[in-house]
Amino acid sequence: MRRWSDVSSAVVRTRYKRRPYSVLAQKQAPLPEQPPPTRRDPAAIVAPELASLRTSLLSLLGSAHPGLDEIAKYYFLHPSKQMRPLLALLFARATNGLGQHWREKQWAAECEGAGGRAEELDWPLTRADVLNDWNPSMPDSTASFDAVFSLVPPQPRVDRPPLPASFALTPSGIPALVSPFLLLPTQRRLAQILEMIHVASLLHDDVIDTSALRRGVPSAPAAFGNKLSVLGGDFLLGRASTALSRLGDFEVVELVASVIGNLVEGEILQMKDVYTPELGIIATPTASKEAWSVYLKKTYLKTASLMAKGCRASVILGGCSQGEVWKEVAYAFGRNFGLAFQLVDDVLDYEAGEATLGKPGGADLRLGLATGPALYAWEEHPEMGPLILRKFEREGDVELARDLVRRSSGVLRTRELARAHSEKARELLQLLPDSDAKVSLEILTERVITRSS
Ligand code: FPP
Ligand code: MG
Repeated sequence: MRRWSDVSSAVVRTRYKRRPYSVLAQKQAPLPEQPPPTRRDPAAIVAPELASLRTSLLSLLGSAHPGLDEIAKYYFLHPSKQMRPLLALLFARATNGLGQHWREKQWAAECEGAGGRAEELDWPLTRADVLNDWNPSMPDSTASFDAVFSLVPPQPRVDRPPLPASFALTPSGIPALVSPFLLLPTQRRLAQILEMIHVASLLHDDVIDTSALRRGVPSAPAAFGNKLSVLGGDFLLGRASTALSRLGDFEVVELVASVIGNLVEGEILQMKDVYTPELGIIATPTASKEAWSVYLKKTYLKTASLMAKGCRASVILGGCSQGEVWKEVAYAFGRNFGLAFQLVDDVLDYEAGEATLGKPGGADLRLGLATGPALYAWEEHPEMGPLILRKFEREGDVELARDLVRRSSGVLRTRELARAHSEKARELLQLLPDSDAKVSLEILTERVITRSS
């Protein structure tokens, strides 16, 4: 197993001095024999969870307003990679049992009134008639504004059942993965929340990008119009926020809520005229350096943040606390994986077309966006600079830029950069104990580079 210090440049240092045992000691005894994840499908080991996740998610999105109901569910009705839930579920599987508070979390998932049971995650924390967030799919836990409201005398506080006296680690004191694997209801709900936030951002993104297609079908703005698409995205965020608060973990609420801000910042950074001469940036190689740093920051905010914080949140819900290496690994993995994922996405925009992407190729240039391949091409062909500066606005700019990219090593170098990040992500996994989920995550770090859609 790799030492923590070998990969620490890629991760935030943690105060692991507080641990009673070393990071190396966190590697535990091998799991009992389990069918290995197939190389064809690294998602196979969490396939049942992924399948039920989408179906049960639809019930979280019910609205009394039929139009809103339809648009909120629209993107969930078409198959998707569910990459963010997949990463969160695999990290749960790769770390559940290791955290200092695992047994407490497991107890909460089984003990009535402790807030961690599946059905409890649907119960309102505030009285349903005060929330007025009517969801026809959940008539028992929501109430409508139409119901008669009466002043209710304050209810006595219902306290959580007391924690059992001792939650020792494993008998040996060395943390071990739980076997057989147990996914906590809070982690399953988190996976749904991550997908809801992702889909909300797509609803907004398709308005901004004026996309006609998503995954080969009419985009939400094409099918319902811009206004409903924006409102549908907002509705998803609202429902995701309610579900997030019911997870009962402040750290997770903070992490996931901060992703929403990150997504918006990433999108604004992408829209902004960062290369204009008014900002003092001119079309020279120095400017391309500046553009690279904006591009990578935007890539983290727009794509990697949700993956990184989603993985970290999943590990926290499994009982990992401050000072434990697992949540640092989860974040750093997701950050590197997310960067690789988006870099490859940007390459595919040059290489692939409608057949593989479900949208026409070259879309980024038409949106005025200079991604990795164009920025590298700028280094080799200075004439790319003015095109980037004017956001490929003039007639023939897009075609010229595509040609410059073709005659440069831009695509190749962007792929190499993506590979460097995916290798970093793979290296980080060596800090985890061996498991089928770890193998799946390793396979994903290869797939993220070789994928064609
Ligand atoms: C897809 O990018 C879009 C994103 C990853 C994020 C978009 C974020 C916003 C619109 C900010 C608002 C956020 C929320 C949460 C409401 P892309 O256009 O490169 O990919 P595509 O080809 O799939 O459209
Ligand atoms: Mg888009």
